[in-house]
Amino acid sequence: MKNKSLVSINDFTREEHIRILELAGAFEKRPKQKILEDYVVATLFFEPSTRTRLSFESAATRLGARVIGFTDAASSSVTKGESLRDTILTVSNYCDIIVMRHPREGSARFASEVASVPVINAGDGANQHPTQTLLDLYSIRKTQGKLDNLNVAFVGDLKYGRTVHSLVQALCNYNTTFHLVSPQELKLPSSVKMNIKDRNLAYHQHTDLMEVIPKVDILYMTRIQKERFADPLDYEKVKNSYILRNNMLSGSRENLKIMHPLPRVNEITIDVDENAKAYYFTQALNGVYVRQALLAAILGVVE
Ligand code: CP
Repeated sequence: MKNKSLVSINDFTREEHIRILELAGAFEKRPKQKILEDYVVATLFFEPSTRTRLSFESAATRLGARVIGFTDAASSSVTKGESLRDTILTVSNYCDIIVMRHPREGSARFASEVASVPVINAGDGANQHPTQTLLDLYSIRKTQGKLDNLNVAFVGDLKYGRTVHSLVQALCNYNTTFHLVSPQELKLPSSVKMNIKDRNLAYHQHTDLMEVIPKVDILYMTRIQKERFADPLDYEKVKNSYILRNNMLSGSRENLKIMHPLPRVNEITIDVDENAKAYYFTQALNGVYVRQALLAAILGVVE
């Protein structure tokens, strides 16, 4: 993985995914190791973030690296008309690795082709969010003891949810049975569904959340991605499509874990937080260990 960019989840092999999960497990046991003292990590966030940016910065800082970057395109020279190409060429000279989030699909691939250092995609529009996927895989394996042969439900905005797109692709390596729960307007794009079909895996499309809850090991809730809708009225029609309440979980499996990439709006009520099956805040914590593993592996400090 040394010097490799991570733009799409499929840029890394299944074996490389597993290696990252193993390294993350080691960092969870020992999160403070000064193995990146000689490195500079640039975090370029052209779009808002709490978890991804801060967990990357926490990961880098705990390993002794210096972090530079911006949290908002408005505080960069993009406001003066600078192109993404020129920004990446310039920042490449200041750091050893770039972590970038950008609203445009394909921007991370473009950046990786221009940069002289590896680029990690921290989310490009509605396309991909591969580092979220690795922490999701880590969370699934940790809670279920395996990745193979699980029933996984994806609920909510399957059209614009980049975390869904990356995780569906990754889970196609593990004989997953998929339950796709969404309004008609927000179904999984056919380009992503093709990955499931190509592997001849089982998938079921639903509109009713209740019928799915007793059947699954992982309930992956998602926010309706308001910022991706061209017409605000279209968002209004679907914004309350699925709301998970604690009393809806009574018939669920013992091993069920409720995951959510966060942020949430109203799709999980706060009474669910007290349920032992709620896993989303620990899931976000796992992001630190997984991002430590990624930085260390891509910078070639661990193998
Ligand atoms: N899951 C995730 O990407 O969260 P942020 O938008 O807060 O980074």
